[in-house]
Amino acid sequence: MARHISKKYRKLIETAKLARKKAYCPYSRYQVGAAVMTESGRIFSGCNVENASYGLSICAERVAVFNAVARGERMIQAVAVVGKSARPCGACRQVMLEFSTKETDLLLVDLDPNERKDTVIRSRVYSMLPCAFDPLESGLLPQHPHNLLRRRRGPIRRRKRARRLHQYEGRKEGRR
Ligand code: THU
Repeated sequence: MARHISKKYRKLIETAKLARKKAYCPYSRYQVGAAVMTESGRIFSGCNVENASYGLSICAERVAVFNAVARGERMIQAVAVVGKSARPCGACRQVMLEFSTKETDLLLVDLDPNERKDTVIRSRVYSMLPCAFDPLESGLLPQHPHNLLRRRRGPIRRRKRARRLHQYEGRKEGRR
């Protein structure tokens, strides 16, 4: 692999490569693996999953992003896509952009047919979707999705305690 790739991105690429082996693609026989590194440094992977009703198939990139979001992560630092000249489709570019920043890296890994030296193209999620429909710039979101995560703070806990007390009082009433 190209020498200019940092250690953490090498790990990201290796994860995407392993995920590619899990691709369910009996119709196209085109395997793709993806891995997302979130701002906390955690890695989430995905592969393409096809369906007998072809249009229901989903790309590796979206599986990886949704996997990260389902685990409570909403800010992507980098994405790696591995395949034989695989390039994220328009839908995946839009989905990746939702959780990216202007700096989010995109690593496109083209597998060497002789399994010797893969080619890595470095880009940015933002530059892969010019004139994008941006959740922030459109004014649809006030802040990056990452900042919309509800954190457990005092007032929420206090409200929860009050609710429990209310339920307890209710039960006591019922017993009388
Ligand atoms: N595919 C991906 O998973 N990611 C890409 O970047 C390109 C295309 C999948 C979708 C479908 O399962 C197969 O590759 C052929 O289009």
